[in-house]
Amino acid sequence: MINHPLSNIILKTKLLKELAKQYGTPTYVYSKKRLEENIDKLSRAISFNFINYQIYYAVKANSNIHIIKTLRSRFNDLGCDCSSPGELFAAKKAGVNMSDCVYTGNYESIEDLKTAFNKGAEINLDDLNSFHRLKTIGIPEYVSFRLNPGKGHGQFKGIITGGKDSKFGIPKEEIVEAYKAAKSSGVKKFGLQCHAGSSTLDAETFSDITEQILISTREVENSIGEKLEKVSIGSGFGIPYRDEEKPLDLQRLFKNIKLVFKDYYGHDNRNWPTLCVEPGRILVADAGFILTSVTGTKSSYKQFIGLDAGMETLMRPALYGAFHRVQKIGKNSGKTLKYDITGRICENTDRISKDHDMPIVGEGELCAIMDSGAYGYSMSHNFNTRPRPAEVLIDKEKIVLIRERESIEDIFRGCNV
Ligand code: LLP
Repeated sequence: MINHPLSNIILKTKLLKELAKQYGTPTYVYSKKRLEENIDKLSRAISFNFINYQIYYAVKANSNIHIIKTLRSRFNDLGCDCSSPGELFAAKKAGVNMSDCVYTGNYESIEDLKTAFNKGAEINLDDLNSFHRLKTIGIPEYVSFRLNPGKGHGQFKGIITGGKDSKFGIPKEEIVEAYKAAKSSGVKKFGLQCHAGSSTLDAETFSDITEQILISTREVENSIGEKLEKVSIGSGFGIPYRDEEKPLDLQRLFKNIKLVFKDYYGHDNRNWPTLCVEPGRILVADAGFILTSVTGTKSSYKQFIGLDAGMETLMRPALYGAFHRVQKIGKNSGKTLKYDITGRICENTDRISKDHDMPIVGEGELCAIMDSGAYGYSMSHNFNTRPRPAEVLIDKEKIVLIRERESIEDIFRGCNV
């Protein structure tokens, strides 16, 4: 692994051994410094190019309240993009004003809409039928609708959220109707949102999607005779999961998005709608890793490393075939083997990595599964009745426990036996 932002932590064998001893494994470990660098870099790139903008952190990437708090204390204007009452709860506990949150659900129940409405979050609707359900609760002053621009992007098929096969958003051919219905029902202010995919490292894609969004924005504005106040381009900003991948050049990316805005709205950026983004991965993914112990090794038709972190700890490899670098902690002999790295789950899709070149490891040794700060803990689960891991935050010399390890009793708390 070359030049990873957390390389300095991964090299601290003594610290990691102590951490494993005190908190056990598997444990999600996050770097406060890296979280701060990530929000600094993004906010700088946007504010350099846009006067009116809003960053909504996508809580689904990592809903730990301490993580949200860390991002917010570095960037006070941080809002949150929430997709469930639970994510609204986390944002509120982290001190984010509900009026700085946007609720983007899909197939939202009336109960969920009620929660978002009553808490005062902005509501971004996935469909005209969503609006009809919302009407039974009340008419907000502002709504936005989610656009399906007819195409999407993303690293894996499973995380493409635009296009003909997508369950999200309103087709571009029909979106105007939703705004007409909202206006005639008394909505006064409008925005438009689109999130067409995730984990994209091709900067061009974001200019293209912005253009698709602004085409629809213009159609909507012309048909309802109102200017849209906010345009959200969602997110999808990728990070390098492999040594050979390059990070996005955010300055260039937002400069190019600015050019698209200029084409549509002219030079005077005070007349532009507020640019909104909903970053998840790019803020938290490379700020976290899983510290895990080797529980068993096996020489079968293939060489296996068994970890105490499996698909219940990190779903991404089993679900999408996602790749995460796995680093051995401490000294190695320089000899490597091709390993399949797995967990203890009774499923043959339980893999952290396949055919991974690794230094030879032995039982009891520690490894780090890199770049698991996003969609790691938040997608972890209890299959095989495995409790979820602990989470800790490294803050300079301090290690802060930010979520206790779940216990077996916690899993059965609702059973009343
Ligand atoms: N906004 C909306 C409406 C979203 O649905 C998402 C992610 C985001 C923003 C944040 O996207 P990001 O900045 O992270 O690309 N579990 C998958 C990723 C699914 C993303 C779902 N929506 C993974 O592990 O790669």
